[in-house]
Amino acid sequence: VDEETYKASTYAPVNIAVIKYWGKRDTKLNLPTNSSLSVTLSQDDLRTHTTASCSSTVEKDSLTLNGKDQDVSGARTQACLRELRRLRKDVEEKDGSAPKLSELKLKIVSENNFPTAAGLASSAAGFAALVRAIADLYQLPATPTELSRIARQGSGSACRSLFGGYVAWQQGDKEDGSDSLAYEVAPASHWPEMRAVILVASAEKKDVSSTAGMQQTVATSALFKHRAENVVPGRMKAMEAAIHDRDFAAFAQLTTRDSNNFHACCADTDPPIFYMNDTSRAAVRMCEAINAAAGNVVCAYTFDAGPNAVVYYLAEHEKEVAGTFKALLGEKTGWEGKRGGAVEAVKKLP
Ligand code: PMV
Repeated sequence: VDEETYKASTYAPVNIAVIKYWGKRDTKLNLPTNSSLSVTLSQDDLRTHTTASCSSTVEKDSLTLNGKDQDVSGARTQACLRELRRLRKDVEEKDGSAPKLSELKLKIVSENNFPTAAGLASSAAGFAALVRAIADLYQLPATPTELSRIARQGSGSACRSLFGGYVAWQQGDKEDGSDSLAYEVAPASHWPEMRAVILVASAEKKDVSSTAGMQQTVATSALFKHRAENVVPGRMKAMEAAIHDRDFAAFAQLTTRDSNNFHACCADTDPPIFYMNDTSRAAVRMCEAINAAAGNVVCAYTFDAGPNAVVYYLAEHEKEVAGTFKALLGEKTGWEGKRGGAVEAVKKLP
């Protein structure tokens, strides 16, 4: 290979689950104990931008995030790089004139425009962007669903960030994980009125990582077993139906109940894990008050592995929902209202 530099850049948006992934049946392959479903946020709001490049002058694989060196030797990152290089090798074997990029080291540069590891699904956008940037660099003929299988091995929730709109991750049942993939439930354009406001209760790094939290939950919570076996399968079907029917009341009820069920499982572990704090609970009460005042379900809250609330609502209720949160909380320290279109289409792959 000559000294030419090959380069590709991409954005990947954050996704916020409305039916939560929590629990691994295989920690190496990131295979989940239940299916999950998410809404992809607009990449104008929260996203990772990643550039991948390679040339014969690059001496080792490297990754920087917001200018800081990251460890690439971890099993998750290595699994993604290995899979992508293998697919590139297939391309090179089929087309003898294709440059041997699979033999070069990679330089990966990522920027997040939101706090990392604060329960804002940073790893989801991060691994999705990393996988797609390298796939573009390698000119792989892979569909988003195929890339989701690779991104999943970086971070489970990342497999859902390869699509815009409403996205499901089917747990699959094969041991090798080949059927544990993401697919589009509906494009963003199906329900363009959907909005999300994110209330940042704390931008600190969370104290129990999702991996550690899941491990502890699977090992010690009896409630979790009930969730995975009896609760989530029915909710996945009901949520897909609510999205297809654009039934906000059903969507909202499933979303808040699933968030509460997930956090109940966290509290049921030994020792208990508390991701939500007093500020989070104030946001829950606020949503209930907004719905009561509207006489209708106009907003739905959900919390990931951190204290920040994501509140979904429809554009027609912007004033009641986002307006109320802004008016009441805008002045307080510790809260940063960030709002915007939830589900605009994601930039198409080149
Ligand atoms: O992908 P991970 O390992 O960061 O786990 C994400 C877990 C939740 O955000 C709490 C739920 C989800 O489905 O995104």
